[in-house]
Amino acid sequence: MAPIAGYRRPFLGTQPNYLWPAYRSSVKRAPSKPLVYLPHTLSEVTGPSFENEIVDVKACDLTKQHPAAPLGERIIVSGRVLDEDGRPVRNTLVEIWQANAAGRYLHKRDQHDAPLDPNFSGNGYTLTDSDGRYRFVTIKPGEYPWRNHVNAWRPAHIHFSIFGPAFAMRLVTQMYFPGDPLLPFDPIFNATADELARKRLISAFDWESTKSEWALGYRFDIILSGREATPMEG
Ligand SMILES: [Fe+2]
Repeated sequence: MAPIAGYRRPFLGTQPNYLWPAYRSSVKRAPSKPLVYLPHTLSEVTGPSFENEIVDVKACDLTKQHPAAPLGERIIVSGRVLDEDGRPVRNTLVEIWQANAAGRYLHKRDQHDAPLDPNFSGNGYTLTDSDGRYRFVTIKPGEYPWRNHVNAWRPAHIHFSIFGPAFAMRLVTQMYFPGDPLLPFDPIFNATADELARKRLISAFDWESTKSEWALGYRFDIILSGREATPMEG
């Protein structure tokens, strides 16, 4: 059987460190032994494909999933999903989840003393188009406390999962907002050593997607791993 072209492994420092003691729960789950290199096989270089039929139009507008509008500042979050070679990642599943405007998740383990919003569930999904573009309408999430250390607060963020066409491309990450004063103090944000890679986690305010008299736009482009070699057909 011909060797399979795998996906490139991330450049040093561009992904969060497995062990980052300032982020307490990384201590328990980080591998304690050196990693073993495993070449990618068919099960890593393939993945599910998604069809437009699975998409509920309400799923990408988190402000329209309930009878009334949620409280908070409406925003538009959009961007492109590309691979490292600059090719658009088409028809791929992009999922988001987030706290409401008061900084509270609709989850039984979130006991933060902030109100739930009956008109906000905080999760959505969409597929990228033929150009790799995606777009969500949502509410700006609030900052929230966590018990990592004394007086610990997470900067406002939206969780993202991008499936990509192969399991080895799947990316789970967080998007932050420009100018957030909590960013320099956040152990999760700082767990990525490379400064440029860290800055790529911060969305940009975007006039192009900002809608007059309606909502501010934020742009967040996402780059997934590229192939180790260009896959050849035939
Ligand atoms: Fe979160």
